[in-house]
Amino acid sequence: MGAEVVVEGLTKSFGNQAIWRDVTLTLPPGEVSVMLGPSGTGKSVFLKSMIGLLKPDRGRCLVNGVDIVTCSERQLYETRKLFGVLFQDGALFGSMNLFDNVAFPLREHTRKSEAEIRRIVLEKLDLTGLQGAEKKLPGEISGGMRKRAGLARALVLNPEIILCDEPDSGLDPVRTAYLSQLLIDLNAQIDATILIVTHNINLARTVPDNLGMLFRRELVMFGPREVLLTSDEPVVEQFLNGRRRGPIGMSEEKDAAQMAEEEAHAAAGHSDGSSAEDVRGVVPQLEPTPGLPERQAVRRRKDRVMSVLRSLPSAAQEGIIASLTPDEQARYQVTAQPTPYPRVESISGDLGDPAWPGVRP
Ligand SMILES: Nc1ncnc2c1ncn2[C@@H]1O[C@H](COP(=O)(O)OP(=O)(O)OP(=O)(O)O)[C@@H](O)[C@H]1O
Ligand SMILES: [Mg+2]
Repeated sequence: MGAEVVVEGLTKSFGNQAIWRDVTLTLPPGEVSVMLGPSGTGKSVFLKSMIGLLKPDRGRCLVNGVDIVTCSERQLYETRKLFGVLFQDGALFGSMNLFDNVAFPLREHTRKSEAEIRRIVLEKLDLTGLQGAEKKLPGEISGGMRKRAGLARALVLNPEIILCDEPDSGLDPVRTAYLSQLLIDLNAQIDATILIVTHNINLARTVPDNLGMLFRRELVMFGPREVLLTSDEPVVEQFLNGRRRGPIGMSEEKDAAQMAEEEAHAAAGHSDGSSAEDVRGVVPQLEPTPGLPERQAVRRRKDRVMSVLRSLPSAAQEGIIASLTPDEQARYQVTAQPTPYPRVESISGDLGDPAWPGVRP
């Protein structure tokens, strides 16, 4: 099973520019999580902080009990081997062909023979649809191929934790659908803990077990997918619908006057360029390709989510219960009638955490 990652009160600034503060969340072992957030909210900075490439001002990031923020160089080096990272720009070495790029971590961190390395590299290139391209240089292939090569390289050390920074950017919609399936299949095969940063709404709705969002220098929410997918928090709704109307503006935030004006405009029936009907609700999650093992995270997650069910907003409770089979509803002793819950004005924090205090009225 993949490692658990516990982030506590993480705060990061560059000089006097605050990026985010007090980020607290747990990536449950072996589950897939997605972090959303408008451009510039510090998602890439967050991933880099998790592997010790950037140093947060405060807080902890515990991986197998080692705090990445304060540990020694030696511990950091060892702990980093647990991670497979796909950077936003792919971070391939321009002068090395794809084979050597993907082989790099194996040559750097293991004593495997060249024959063994060749077997692993070709397997990962195959997995990411790059068979036959191993002699190409990064400059000779498309952006989407570079992304997939970066993913192949992130996988060669059999990571326990996989971080993917916008794996879908530069991919066409069909390739993005394959990538979504690939991530789920990968999780089924190796049970790794996966965190994906993406702007792709479709991927966010169908792939992860948990969803989070960064906005206004804070973690707005992080929790079971059903919570964000059914949320009526304006920033979450706006983002999941790709709408102009809402708190997110071109350069991050809007003021109250501007938002009121937009509401009036929309109420008068004017389009703002997004899809005609807003979507909200829990859509089915992708399942592994037939023939692959089941995702072990599914059962663990169900137990975990059901143990905090009654602390979640009622729309999320409904979504979760509706996604259970009749057998599971009997096992967890729930019916499709959630207990009435007070209207939620504001929820925040890590909603999957049993210690989560619940809803802030
Ligand atoms: N090494 C650095 N030094 C100083 N500022 C930085 C550094 N890295 C990032 N920043 C700043 O931190 C902020 C967040 O950047 P980041 O790349 O994490 O955003 P993001 O959420 O990943 O955006 P996008 O969705 O566009 O990739 C930006 O204002 C950026 O300029
Ligand atoms: Mg980024």
